Amino acid sequence: MKIAVYSAQPYDRRFLDEARRQHAAGVVDAVYFSDPLTLDTVPLAQGCAAVCVFVNDQLDAAVLQALHALGVRAVLLRCAGFNNVDLNAGARLGLFMARVPAYAPEAVAEHALALVMTLNRHTHRAYARVREGNFALDGLLGMTLHGKTVGIVGAGQIGTAAARIFKGLGCTVLVSDPAPAPQLDGVATRVSLDQLLAASDIVSLHCPLMDATRHMIDAASLARMKPGAMLVNTSRGALIDTAAVIEALKSGQLGALAIDVYEQEASLFFHDHSSDIIADDVFQRLMTFPNVLVTGHQGFFTVEAMREIAAVTFANLACHMHGAPCANLLPI
Ligand code: NAI
Repeated sequence: MKIAVYSAQPYDRRFLDEARRQHAAGVVDAVYFSDPLTLDTVPLAQGCAAVCVFVNDQLDAAVLQALHALGVRAVLLRCAGFNNVDLNAGARLGLFMARVPAYAPEAVAEHALALVMTLNRHTHRAYARVREGNFALDGLLGMTLHGKTVGIVGAGQIGTAAARIFKGLGCTVLVSDPAPAPQLDGVATRVSLDQLLAASDIVSLHCPLMDATRHMIDAASLARMKPGAMLVNTSRGALIDTAAVIEALKSGQLGALAIDVYEQEASLFFHDHSSDIIADDVFQRLMTFPNVLVTGHQGFFTVEAMREIAAVTFANLACHMHGAPCANLLPI
């Protein structure tokens, strides 16, 4: 069987090839394309029975229909979130669609911590300063995290890992989740979203992007946050209304913003645009704030997580090939 791997970076190829040699040598052939999956790039999957995709690939009804017409019968997501997939269209076409539900929740939670630590203690600025012989502390003032209140929105696998980390730092941890993971006793207190926003010095988003959570952080919820609080998003960009966040940063209501994901990231992230003119004025405005830190969707990016993603992707494919039950099917 041949699979077409879209949005493939050199590191994807390295880990997927490693897993293929281990789990599917001689059975599965992979072709790699750096292009994202869109209606225009569907023909690249000619001759392939499966496609392997990532967070910013387009899997709407038209694309799924076109893939099906080419003979593709399986869609393998090498990520957990599936907000980019038209589940109804996939079900209608009878496609096998599976994801990697958990590859390293701790990796993403640790990245959220890295963002908080960097932004709070300004280590990114200190690094550049010290290398230039500037040892002044002006502008590097942070707060002691011990004793502060951290609000975790979405206490699933990643949110629970984040809750444990912040508890370990001596923070009071609040969680808001309609169905939190059960292991939070003694670690965090369950509260409503409004209570969490009002009480937290740091709010960290870990819930999935769905219709109900799109722009959950908008002008109204920003106004309910503690003045000067820090907002962290390592989940999905569209949880945040970026225009409203910019206004809150300008007024000082929002004290700092750290994001690993961005609403319009598809045209920017995972590629080198250092010689390009970036046309996204909203993103460029964000870049002007000294209290904003952006990373390009790297929360998952650890050796352990990449190995797990590749192994589970091939395990999912094996289920499809052998008609075996698969625990990682998308909910359709
Ligand atoms: P999970 O499914 O284990 O947990 C999500 C939690 O959110 C669940 O407990 C659910 O009940 C809760 N939830 C649903 N609606 C909610 C709402 N309205 N308010 C509060 N909580 C709500 O998912 P997991 O593995 O923890 O991943 C969370 C998200 O992190 C994913 O959906 C994905 O978008 C993102 N992610 C980001 C990565 C990165 O590299 N930055 C890597 C992996 C995932």
